[in-house]
Amino acid sequence: MTADHRLLTEKVALITGASSGIGAAAARVFAREGARVVLTARREDKLKALVADLREQGLEAEYVVADMTRRADTAAAVAHAVESYGRLDLAFNNAGWGTGREPLHEMDDELYDRIMDVNVRGVWNCLRDEIAAMLPTGGGAIVNTSSVGGLIATPVAAPYVAAKHAVIGLTRAAAAEYAARGIRVNAVAPGTTRTEVVTEWFAAVPGMEEALHAATPQPRTAEPEEIAEAAAWLCSDRASFVTGAIMPVDGGFTMV
Ligand SMILES: NC(=O)c1ccc[n+]([C@@H]2O[C@H](COP(=O)([O-])OP(=O)(O)OC[C@H]3O[C@@H](n4cnc5c(N)ncnc54)[C@H](OP(=O)(O)O)[C@@H]3O)[C@@H](O)[C@H]2O)c1
Repeated sequence: MTADHRLLTEKVALITGASSGIGAAAARVFAREGARVVLTARREDKLKALVADLREQGLEAEYVVADMTRRADTAAAVAHAVESYGRLDLAFNNAGWGTGREPLHEMDDELYDRIMDVNVRGVWNCLRDEIAAMLPTGGGAIVNTSSVGGLIATPVAAPYVAAKHAVIGLTRAAAAEYAARGIRVNAVAPGTTRTEVVTEWFAAVPGMEEALHAATPQPRTAEPEEIAEAAAWLCSDRASFVTGAIMPVDGGFTMV
């Protein structure tokens, strides 16, 4: 019998925002690394197709349609994981959304509320349900998706910058509170990552892609899998003494 060197063998993992981009890449990486994954987002067609594809590869996956801004939905997603696989070991709280094209003084309340709701309330909702599910089985590991916008400020994105700073605050507060009870909580802070939204953004704003590359020591855009790999490692037992950490995955963008 050969040894199993996969990062997440037999762990039960909830991944939010799994219908596209970084979350969909994480679904593939976590499942390939041996986790039984429960995928959640609002677009059922995307989740269904991804779960079918993973199962065809002999991997274990479930999905549940949920809106992270609603506490009843996050509770249902966590309950689905526990009912399907008996426990919850890992969570990648990755669902998020933001835009940044207008000056701060021209932004309206609706945009502010929408950005805060999914990025901050979404993580807040998830943390409470996930921690409650993890405590009875002795702990687990949680990774939240912040952004380089959680570490530094970028223009015309004030609500998103504030929301992603708040994700870092929630990450550290939860890490401090639950470290002694076996739950590690960390965050990834991705730089610009090649997802559908970013591809559209580059197409809409000529010169943006080149300008970002020029400001990045590794002068390129990240692939979603590169963020997913960092999240998988932070979730794994190989990161067993890492908690409250905010890991930039940004090609050095926030270093210079
Ligand atoms: N791409 C980048 O350059 C970049 C950089 C830094 C940080 N990030 C962060 O990375 C995370 C993933 O984004 P992405 O780039 O992969 O973009 P994406 O492809 O648009 O993915 C966002 C995911 O979040 C889900 N989502 C959005 N609102 C939701 C809600 N209310 N309830 C449940 N799910 C919701 C979406 O699914 P449904 O629409 O199906 O619900 C989708 O699966 C976000 O937190 C984003 O802020 C991205």
